[in-house]
Amino acid sequence: MRQVIAELPGSKIREVANAGLGRSDVLPFWFGESDEVTPDFIREAAVRSLHDGETFYAHNLGMPELREALSAYAGSLHRSVDAGRIAVTSSGVNALMLAMQALAGAGDEVVAVVPVWPNLTSQPVILGARVTRVPLRPQGGAWKLDLEALLAAVTPQSKVLLVNAPNNPTGWTLSRAEQETILAHCQRTGTWIIADEVYERLYFAGEGARSCAPSFLDIAEPDDRLIVAHSFSKSFLMTGWRLGWLVVPAALTEAMGKLIEFNTSCAPTFVQRAGLAALAGADDFVPGLVQRLKTCRDTLLPQLAALPGVHVAVPDGGMYAFFRVDGQDDSLAFAKRLVTEAGLGLAPGVAFGAEAEGWLRWCFASKQPERLTEGVGRLRRQLGL
Ligand SMILES: Cc1ncc(COP(=O)(O)O)c(C=O)c1O
Repeated sequence: MRQVIAELPGSKIREVANAGLGRSDVLPFWFGESDEVTPDFIREAAVRSLHDGETFYAHNLGMPELREALSAYAGSLHRSVDAGRIAVTSSGVNALMLAMQALAGAGDEVVAVVPVWPNLTSQPVILGARVTRVPLRPQGGAWKLDLEALLAAVTPQSKVLLVNAPNNPTGWTLSRAEQETILAHCQRTGTWIIADEVYERLYFAGEGARSCAPSFLDIAEPDDRLIVAHSFSKSFLMTGWRLGWLVVPAALTEAMGKLIEFNTSCAPTFVQRAGLAALAGADDFVPGLVQRLKTCRDTLLPQLAALPGVHVAVPDGGMYAFFRVDGQDDSLAFAKRLVTEAGLGLAPGVAFGAEAEGWLRWCFASKQPERLTEGVGRLRRQLGL
């Protein structure tokens, strides 16, 4: 086996979850998904497709009608995106891996804004690339980008800049001005941007049915060195379906089709039909979901912030509260104690990088916000408050 594969760290979130294995009394907020099931109108589309016998291989780049629908969807949120620039993938994580495979190889430098969902930084390592980490910094509970530090880190030697905003786990979101500066800088250095925008719709500062976090697709030219990775998982409650997509410059589409052939060959047709239904219902469904998540956020955050010794900022996007408790510097040990002693399942900050040691991530996406209140009670009792 290659050394880098043997040395890949296991998931520390799973490590905490395993500590609670077999215990039905644990309130689990550790994984990045809602406890709400995928809406009926999406599930029914997949069932219909299976009934119709759509059980065969599909086109590498996705069904033409889904690529068209994604082009219309992206265009309704951002600048227009030609369907020829879209590749349907088997999940967001698959989309990100394909993007990295296309751009970074052995010895290449990838600059990543961290802390971040660990899959993003493991992918270049699997491919033999080197990762330079540029840390966000906590200021009074909120995480901020040191733009100067990022610009200094991205040089003509940097193949890829990897940035996830709204960010998992911190909730940090890029501003339009920061995006413009970063894009202009990467144009000068010739660096590709891989933008992970899977949480773009889970944005609480926006308004209207098509509210969306600032995206690189609002400002980039079609042939800029930019790949944007997306997923159906978060905006449509479809984590288990494994469906995502990429927006790439047209010159890369054919190569992306080849890479998909060698990775998964295609996304399943019945899952793509579900994706088509999701997009058709997006304007009716997504605003309600965002409203429910906002209720969850506004239930959890003030209660956490009110606990003495707890530091947390209200996130603009995503579905996570990221917080720190004074005196609890070993997040893995603390998260395990919370599971075994308090029945509260959270993700340890260190799972997202050493920069986030001492922090905890709480996924607040729940159809029953009162469960969040129950969780805060458990935390309070564990802290002896
Ligand atoms: C930042 C980020 N990107 C991408 C993904 C991938 O989502 P999926 O593979 O379910 O589409 C996740 C999932 O948690 C994520 O947090």
